Amino acid sequence: MRYLWAVCLLFLLPAANAAGSAELMEYRSRVMEGAQRHLRAAASIVNDGVELPAHLAEHARALQVFSRMIPEMFPPGSHGAGSDAKAEIWQRWEEFSGLAQRLGKNAAVLEETAADAKRRKQAYTDVLETCRTCHREFRKQ
Ligand code: HEC
Repeated sequence: MRYLWAVCLLFLLPAANAAGSAELMEYRSRVMEGAQRHLRAAASIVNDGVELPAHLAEHARALQVFSRMIPEMFPPGSHGAGSDAKAEIWQRWEEFSGLAQRLGKNAAVLEETAADAKRRKQAYTDVLETCRTCHREFRKQ
């Protein structure tokens, strides 16, 4: 009986892994979309005259949290069907995780300058540029 369970587990494990990775891809797509929403909300304040600088600081904080989540969402080899991630991510991991860190730093500057209408514009642009750089290098267009 115990032997039978072991055999069953052997068959179940790969299936569980495959399902897990499809779910992980869905998860990171949801997290990335969340970041997109925060960035758009930040644009309403920076570019469209919504006067909620304290909210801008909060969106910038959310983007710092997001930046810390990025590396763990990309375990080696988690690309392929259903994903726009390039295999280069794991060949150039230092660069990839470095971009995640840079996003965190730029979002921290956005938080610090949230009440300064002049400086926060540049800080916002720097955050946006970091998203774009990583997508250009590591996401299928
Ligand atoms: C360190 C690299 C990196 C950074 C920084 C980064 N992204 Fe991404 N992003 C990716 C990769 C890789 C994908 C593709 C993931 C996939 O399809 O499996 C992606 C996908 C996305 C998607 C598409 C999600 C979907 O499936 O619909 C959105 C939206 C997105 N990113 C927004 C952002 C925003 C906004 C920022 C900046 C605040 C950002 N990303 C920063 C690497 C990054």
